[in-house]
Amino acid sequence: MNANKTMEPSASLDFLGDLRRTHTCGQLRAAEAGSRALLMGWVHRRRDLGGVIFIHLRDRDGVTQVVFHADVDQGVHSKAEQVRPEYVIAVEGRVEQRSPETVNTNIETGEVEVVAEKIWILNDSRTPPFPMEETVDVSEDVRLKYRYVDLRRPHMQRNIMLRSRVSFAVREFLYSQGFLEIETPFMTRSTPEGARDYLVPSRVQPGSFYALPQSPQLFKQLLMISGFEKYFQIVRCFRDEDLRADRQPEFTQIDLEMSFPQQERIFEVIEPLVQKVCAVAGFEVPVPFPRLTYAEAMRSYGIDKPDRRIPPMHPVEDLIPELGTARLPLIAIHIPGTGALSRKERDELKQYGTERGLRVFDDARRLERDFPDAMAKVRARTGAREDDLLILAAWAGEPKGHRPEETVLQACGQLRLYAAQKYNDRHRLLDPKNFQFLWVVDFPMFEWDEEENRWSAAHHPFTSVHDDDLEKLTADPARCRAKSYDLVLNGVELGSGSIRIHRRDIQAKVFGALGFSDEEARRRFGFLLDALEYGAPPHGGIALGLDRLVMILAGENSIRDVIPFPKTARGTDLMCDAPAPVPDRQLRELGISFRKG
Ligand code: AMO
Repeated sequence: MNANKTMEPSASLDFLGDLRRTHTCGQLRAAEAGSRALLMGWVHRRRDLGGVIFIHLRDRDGVTQVVFHADVDQGVHSKAEQVRPEYVIAVEGRVEQRSPETVNTNIETGEVEVVAEKIWILNDSRTPPFPMEETVDVSEDVRLKYRYVDLRRPHMQRNIMLRSRVSFAVREFLYSQGFLEIETPFMTRSTPEGARDYLVPSRVQPGSFYALPQSPQLFKQLLMISGFEKYFQIVRCFRDEDLRADRQPEFTQIDLEMSFPQQERIFEVIEPLVQKVCAVAGFEVPVPFPRLTYAEAMRSYGIDKPDRRIPPMHPVEDLIPELGTARLPLIAIHIPGTGALSRKERDELKQYGTERGLRVFDDARRLERDFPDAMAKVRARTGAREDDLLILAAWAGEPKGHRPEETVLQACGQLRLYAAQKYNDRHRLLDPKNFQFLWVVDFPMFEWDEEENRWSAAHHPFTSVHDDDLEKLTADPARCRAKSYDLVLNGVELGSGSIRIHRRDIQAKVFGALGFSDEEARRRFGFLLDALEYGAPPHGGIALGLDRLVMILAGENSIRDVIPFPKTARGTDLMCDAPAPVPDRQLRELGISFRKG
């Protein structure tokens, strides 16, 4: 609290009494001219021309101009003189059509204005920390500290309202498809989704902790075992992981699970769902979405979440064997419409590739001189034209890892994205309104965990192995494919899911392949293993990241802009200053003390 600020309001305030709005601030049109209106909202802008005061009155629906004429009512006019930006007022008056030269085409109500006959000042406001205009650039820290003011700004209002409409559309659609909305606990045991848990200490059982769920994964599986057949939830998940522009420590999933599905049954639900949600935001997207196996995605894009707005890469080692290594790929990267790069730009590209272990042939013209026939074939294969960027890349040394070819492709994929992003202002391929969805299917079952020196689950340990690869579980884990799938949009992983293991014996085998001892598996997931013994149906599902989906639909680059009260990259809530120390007494009750160092 600011000690210097007097607590007395800076204007004489009125009571709401039984005042009732007749219209919102976004509603009045020429057709209403001549009628009376009572509006309430915030003073968005105020212009005092002496005898006439103009106020732009704002509510969540829009802005209406209100005029106060000194010669109509001196008392009302002088009250209007007291109001300042962000005061909360009610006004009543007559709706008047504006003359053609004064129509304001920037606001939807711009054909009319309200000539005020009464005004009530319902509350005053300190000068806001930043203006409400969209064009004003404000540091994110200030926006987050005064989030309640920031959220009033029209584009934040639009984002949060879009989010609400998206949630509604999801519910409406899933209910119409026979899904039941069922809640699952927030105070639970650890669920393995690959991040650290947020822990909640138990007061009555000192030394024991609940974990906040990283996802409702195990509970939704148990709900299938309980016979609910189609579950969904728009649910908060908690993960203590490094934050990025598309990650928050608490975020929301559209989570669903079905009994007796094949992968295609899940897609049949998600595709029209996503189509409907996009329509809510005004975008038409065709279904079905293309399907690409993980292996194809790696070969063509060097990443498991391809951005299909940029053309794929092509292996060309067969065309210019002189450049590649014998066993590993030589990759052509092609970015249309970039034009010629300067020497400096080519050096930057080269350096980016080199840092990732690549040998980059950045000068297509030189290659064309040296290998004219081969390069003509490269152009034919890639479709690269004269003014497109065309680079070739191969591995500089001996790539490491259990899937060495992937190492090369991944580095090339990074180079492709780097080049496309860097020169987007020239080719404009990365149009945020061009929605290129796809499914990536047949992920590997396991990833090699360098730190732990063992295999870990690529999706999660409850994912089914491909029917054909069951034998490889122990014999050849690197080549074992999972029945898992990702929904990808413009290079962002929007959702992830799998067909689950419903048999106790196979679940035990997978735990074994992951290096869990029987005791560890029992200790962590005993309840699931038990449940699998009581008639678990085949089941599977998916979770979509609601924040990421709305972020893309709203055309934002950060999920913080579609979350009302987000955290900073350090996990801080700058408005309420969380996390925060707690009094010693509270720690004592929980039996907690901190070790120094
Ligand atoms: P997964 O861990 O892939 O799968 O998460 C599913 C989707 O949730 C979103 N997401 C996030 N969004 C914002 N911030 C984060 N920190 C964050 N982490 C994940 C992503 C992601 O695709 N239980 C499984 C789903 C299943 O198998 O059904 C799961 O949680 O959009």
